[in-house]
Amino acid sequence: MSRIGALFLLLTLQQVATATSTLFPPSNASTAAAARLACHQLETTLSSSIVQTNGTEYESAATDAWNLQNTVFRPTCIVFPRVAGHVQVAMKAIFDAGSHYAVQAGGHSAMQGWNTVQDGVLIVFSEMKIASYDPVRDSITLEPGIRWVDAIAAVEAFGVAPAGGRLGDIGTGLLLGGGLSYLAASQGYSADTFMEVDVVLVNGELVTATATNKYSDLFRALKGGGNRFGIVTRYELQAIHTGTEEDSEWFGGLILYNSSAEAILNATARYTREVNDPKAALLISMSIQIIDGVGSPVYLATPFYNGPALPEDIFGEFLSIPAMVSQLGPLSYSGVAETLGLGDQRGLTQHFGASALLGDDSLFLDAFNHWTNFTTTYQDNFNSTTLAFTPITELQIQAGRNKGGNIINAPHGGFAAVQIYQTFNPGVVDIPANVQDGINLLFKQIPPSPGLPLYLNECDEEQEVFKSYGDYELMREIYVKYDPTKYNVNHMRGPLGLE
Ligand SMILES: Cc1cc2nc3c(=O)[nH]c(=O)nc-3n(C[C@H](O)[C@H](O)[C@H](O)COP(=O)(O)OP(=O)(O)OC[C@H]3O[C@@H](n4cnc5c(N)ncnc54)[C@H](O)[C@@H]3O)c2cc1C
Ligand SMILES: *[C@@H]1O[C@H](CO)[C@@H](O)[C@H](O)[C@H]1NC(C)=O
Ligand SMILES: *[C@@H]1O[C@H](CO)[C@@H](O)[C@H](O)[C@H]1NC(C)=O
Ligand SMILES: *[C@@H]1O[C@H](CO)[C@@H](O)[C@H](O)[C@H]1NC(C)=O
Ligand SMILES: *[C@@H]1O[C@H](CO)[C@@H](O)[C@H](O)[C@H]1NC(C)=O
Ligand SMILES: *[C@@H]1O[C@H](CO)[C@@H](O)[C@H](O)[C@H]1NC(C)=O
Ligand SMILES: *[C@@H]1O[C@H](CO)[C@@H](O)[C@H](O)[C@H]1NC(C)=O
Repeated sequence: MSRIGALFLLLTLQQVATATSTLFPPSNASTAAAARLACHQLETTLSSSIVQTNGTEYESAATDAWNLQNTVFRPTCIVFPRVAGHVQVAMKAIFDAGSHYAVQAGGHSAMQGWNTVQDGVLIVFSEMKIASYDPVRDSITLEPGIRWVDAIAAVEAFGVAPAGGRLGDIGTGLLLGGGLSYLAASQGYSADTFMEVDVVLVNGELVTATATNKYSDLFRALKGGGNRFGIVTRYELQAIHTGTEEDSEWFGGLILYNSSAEAILNATARYTREVNDPKAALLISMSIQIIDGVGSPVYLATPFYNGPALPEDIFGEFLSIPAMVSQLGPLSYSGVAETLGLGDQRGLTQHFGASALLGDDSLFLDAFNHWTNFTTTYQDNFNSTTLAFTPITELQIQAGRNKGGNIINAPHGGFAAVQIYQTFNPGVVDIPANVQDGINLLFKQIPPSPGLPLYLNECDEEQEVFKSYGDYELMREIYVKYDPTKYNVNHMRGPLGLE
């Protein structure tokens, strides 16, 4: 075993007790017994390759999550479904036994316990990874275990792409939180491109939800409802015509700066207020990387345009700020999606938080100044800390509404989704209480502008993102319709607000 492997095994063993103590829903002797009952039942109905309690496939699935905190849980068994029917059998057994459970797709949740479970059944989709294109329906069908890099590669020859995420290693769980892609300005949140979604309800029933059938309310709730509304076994998405690799219909790339924060923030604030072009995309990430106790600024912009050049009136400010590195040029959509790499490094504790801003330049600068103070105060704890901005345009919100609407239901007018993100030092599993206090203070110092929704996929659980949604009350009604005993919220960790 490598030195790092041994270190992680040691950490894993040491940290199980700590991780268990912070669990919600709480784990105790009776929940553990319920999980054993469910697993035992599943071992009698599904094959030993589909239900596992030990062995190499079990170990690698239990420890594969991106956030180190989500690798220290020991699921009572892991189910590796091949078809939706296996998920139905698993869900029924979980429900009948009263067991805790969790679902994992790409494993990139930073939120502790949202994609794994202690004393419960974990469903992992690593054996369901097929992507296909249907030219008649002009749609892309994804099994839930695929990652965006593979989904994009599978259909690029047809000149199409799914609206997914921006880094290749991320999985389809992104869709259930909304999903921000480089296609968002014209398509809406990635979930707005849903055509059909197959869902296993909490009682084991498999239904197909669409915008117009009897499950249209469920269909809408799945666009932002995270893991609360059922287990998705198939996504059919609108195919977005992004061009083939040879077409190279895009222009853009990466700009790295190590200074001029205020100019970058001013340009970000202006872009958020003014740009409303369906062909434009931008992510701004302000990071401090801490190496040997010294913090270095790495400020990054990824401007893209679905056309032959970056228009000056949209991106000119970013282009005129002195950069360390500027890699811009014509790209295919897969090239666009590769710009930030896979994001697949594992092994460190990760923490997300969210805000949402719309306003004048000083609002963005204030956020940055608070974050800088936070970073300086706690930087010894971090490998890196990041404050990132994704402009969400009015066109994006309109595109979502035109496709039937999502449960996030953001108000008219664009805004910037803000991600507040820390990566901790190697070896840290539990976030120190004083750092969490600092994070909580930072959330108060960077509050969302009035009426704006927080982004579920980049939040702290305690921020109660659902309550910020435009359709929160409707969401609660839909939830109890499909899960009248509130089995999910009592037996699976995930977004709060439906209890
Ligand atoms: C490096 C990095 C880059 C990112 N970039 C982006 C980005 O560009 N755009 C963006 O929008 N977000 C981005 N995110 C955030 C990302 O959307 C979330 O982390 C997302 O939840 C990851 O989905 P996953 O399938 O990889 O993770 P998972 O943790 O496996 O799943 C996420 C959640 O969805 C649930 N879930 C997954 N599959 C199912 C299913 N089939 N049925 C029911 N519930 C399910 C899980 O239980 C979990 O609660 C990024 C995250 C990271 C770490
Ligand atoms: C065990 O935890 C569950 C919640 O997950 C709770 O309902 C139950 O009362 C607990 N049982 C005991 C014996 O503490
Ligand atoms: C591994 O799992 C199988 C099936 O659940 C079980 O029979 C066996 O005893 C387990 N082996 C170990 C070493 O726990
Ligand atoms: C930015 O990078 C340049 C060139 O590498 C270097 O000279 C300069 O010191 C850096 N500035 C900061 C603030 O790190
Ligand atoms: C940023 O904007 C503010 C207010 O609009 C302005 O006073 C300041 O000079 C700008 N700073 C830079 C570096 O552009
Ligand atoms: C910590 O961050 C640096 C970048 O600053 C990265 O290169 C390195 O891989 C990270 N350390 C670990 C253990 O992941
Ligand atoms: C800077 O951060 C520390 C730690 O969170 C906090 O105590 C202090 O109040 C902050 N200062 C300002 C000016 O926000």
